[in-house]
Amino acid sequence: MKINVKVGTVEKEAAEILVFHVFEDMKITNESLARCNKALHNSISELIKKKEFIARLSKTIVLPTYGKISAKRIMLVGLGKKKDVTLDKIRQAAGTTASILRDMGISESTCVMDSIDITAPLSEWFQAYAEGARLALYKFQRYKYIPPEERHELKVLNLLFSQKDVLTTVRVAVTCGEIIADAVSFTRDLINTPSRDKTPAILADYAVKMAKEYSMQCKVMSLPELKKLGMGGLLGVAQGSVQPPKFIILDYNARAKNQDTLVFIGKGITFDSGGICLKQAKDMDLMKSDMSGAAAVMGAIMALSKMKVPQRIIGLMPCTENMPGGSAMKPGDIIKFSSGKTAEIANTDAEGRLILADALVYAENYRPQAVIDLATLTGSCVVALGTVVTGMMGNNEALKKRVQIAGEKSWERVWELPLWEEYQEQIKSDIADIKNVGGPHGGAITAACFLSKFAEKYPWVHLDIAGTAWCEKGGAYTQKGASGVGVRLLVQLVRNWAKFPEKHSL
Ligand code: BES
Ligand code: ZN
Ligand code: ZN
Repeated sequence: MKINVKVGTVEKEAAEILVFHVFEDMKITNESLARCNKALHNSISELIKKKEFIARLSKTIVLPTYGKISAKRIMLVGLGKKKDVTLDKIRQAAGTTASILRDMGISESTCVMDSIDITAPLSEWFQAYAEGARLALYKFQRYKYIPPEERHELKVLNLLFSQKDVLTTVRVAVTCGEIIADAVSFTRDLINTPSRDKTPAILADYAVKMAKEYSMQCKVMSLPELKKLGMGGLLGVAQGSVQPPKFIILDYNARAKNQDTLVFIGKGITFDSGGICLKQAKDMDLMKSDMSGAAAVMGAIMALSKMKVPQRIIGLMPCTENMPGGSAMKPGDIIKFSSGKTAEIANTDAEGRLILADALVYAENYRPQAVIDLATLTGSCVVALGTVVTGMMGNNEALKKRVQIAGEKSWERVWELPLWEEYQEQIKSDIADIKNVGGPHGGAITAACFLSKFAEKYPWVHLDIAGTAWCEKGGAYTQKGASGVGVRLLVQLVRNWAKFPEKHSL
């Protein structure tokens, strides 16, 4: 869907449907809406007065215009109470608008934008609007035949203003929103794709292609190099699979001078069967999404490169399947990571931390100002926090604060769990430096404790997205399936980066 920002006169807009966004507590004082109301013999104000339409968030009503204005119909879309409006509610209202228009079979429509008393900076408001509208239209249809009569597509959404002065700001904001939504859609596509069509080698091909398209550097490390580096975590997990592992590196702005370097690490388990400690069959299909961290990192870098941010951004994506097999890693095995540390494998299903450990060690090479890993790491995090919020742990207060602020702004919120010393007890091993499971309690925290042993040389935040990466059901701008969580958060974090003056020392 293309979003056009344009100037025009409401009554003359020959749209199939003209959309007005209204606050629940709004009087029709706005000029363009008042003029339309008058032309329609006060039918809008009557509806509102008689409470036949209450403009709660995402509530809609469609009215015919009987040729009184150029548009054939108008649609009112509620924004809720003005004092309660947030950027995410804008995202939701835009999402509802776009999907309703599409489902009505409308291919082009116009939203009257200066009829709204906008409550946030224009750039934020319209970025959120564009994100919501585009994300709502996302569908994963690569494998499904859709009969032609059901193939509705909203091709153009016009945002109509009466004055020229805001157009530039709004256009920039809309472009940012589109870039972000496209990156989230790319991430959702990767996650929704069945495991057989996104093996580590296929993901590596995607990264190579992306690097060419957006002029970044890409390096893919395969078995010989992984062996040379002694990445026993990634190699150990990959042992049971016929698919060779890949360690994918995307490097944006590699030659940036006097700029901070941020490393994003994404867990890339393209299928998590549990390995020898096999998972139960129920819902095992969802474990194709165990590479959501890697997909989010790819999406975020794609968006950041299109936005041409000044920082150097590195994406590290250790990718492998976790499968049982004749040569699979067994409980009781001891593996050795690239840092030299050893770990006892208590459970082969706790594989994410093993591949992340090698990536965290590799991140040291870049002497980064910050390292953030995203991983569908533990069921325990889902038990603790549910599916609304991402679990956050880390070793640096300033970085945690930055992530938390970016989470609020992008509405991909995070909630901190304590990474206190006492929990480290649980991952002690009698026969190796550490073990990969910390017992039945506090699993999200003990998993982070494990990671912390490999992230000692830089400010680091770990995000457990096990609960937030997958939607059981759709929302105003999400669908059942992958959410694409992490992309908006990381993009927001980087765009805010220079606004916070503190520097982190290594
Ligand atoms: N990929 C899973 C975690 C997961 C669970 C992600 C549910 C998304 C939804 C991870 O590799 C795993 O299996 N973790 C185990 C660890 C346990 C064996 C210590 C878990 O959380 O049960
Ligand atoms: Zn697992
Ligand atoms: Zn896993």
